[in-house]
Amino acid sequence: MNEAAQGASDPIISITDLHKSFGPHSILKGVDLDIPRGEVTVIIGRSGEGKSVLLKHIIGLLTPDSGDVLLEGTSMCWSPPRVRRRLLRRFGMLFQNGALFDSMTVFDNVAFPIREARLGLRKGELRDRVLEKLALVGLSDIDKKIPAELSGGQRKRVALARAIALDPEIILYDEPTTGLDPVRVHAVDEMILHAAHTLNVTSIVISHDMQAVFEIADRVAMLFDGKIHVCVTPAELRVHPSEVVQSFIAGRPMSDASAGQLTG
Ligand SMILES: Nc1ncnc2c1ncn2[C@@H]1O[C@H](COP(=O)(O)OP(=O)(O)O)[C@@H](O)[C@H]1O
Ligand SMILES: [Mg+2]
Repeated sequence: MNEAAQGASDPIISITDLHKSFGPHSILKGVDLDIPRGEVTVIIGRSGEGKSVLLKHIIGLLTPDSGDVLLEGTSMCWSPPRVRRRLLRRFGMLFQNGALFDSMTVFDNVAFPIREARLGLRKGELRDRVLEKLALVGLSDIDKKIPAELSGGQRKRVALARAIALDPEIILYDEPTTGLDPVRVHAVDEMILHAAHTLNVTSIVISHDMQAVFEIADRVAMLFDGKIHVCVTPAELRVHPSEVVQSFIAGRPMSDASAGQLTG
């Protein structure tokens, strides 16, 4: 067994023996992973390894062939839609490329999920909530702008403000720093850490970026060949004996020979 199951004493999410194929392609081949409450878990793995597919199972956007994702014991995969919708409200999600609604102002982007949730807020309450979320991610005086007027970093922040609009307990980030230069990667990492600490949430960050791992992770889980290959602290990852791990850290492409050797 990997170290994942033993690592978390109070997991908020338990992923058990998750399998998913698309046609003949087996993507997830028995993923087991516990997500500890209140921590930052970074899931790494090569491009195309199935990280986004795994994330979509966590929020119930994809149904597995077998296995389960439990949120405090309730199935995200097999519960009735009504129950899954209720569970889903506990998540905030920053999708890959963090798309904003281009034609809407920053204010309306952040207000969108609040309006959708029909909380019956008065206009002033809605406004307070939106401006509070923008302030939390370090933005002020930009609420009337549209996304095209913002820098890439500001857009990420707006996307995060929108993701936390409904006070989620768990925030999922899919490749939040892909395509950014190291300075901006650092800024986004700081933003994730700031959110993690001030909002007291559980964070799950998908990344193929080692800088993120060493800057923000409490635990790092590596997806490889459809399974969690290791789940350890960043310090343990650095010195991990697995060649798969060391190749990934060094940014070396994995040869099929050494991959086969390690999984066989
Ligand atoms: N809805 C889908 N239908 C068919 N194949 C898919 C679908 N979603 C993902 N895949 C395939 O699953 C594999 C893993 O994809 P993904 O999870 O996006 O990788 P990554 O680790 O880069 O996030 C890829 O080969 C992708 O083409
Ligand atoms: Mg992906």
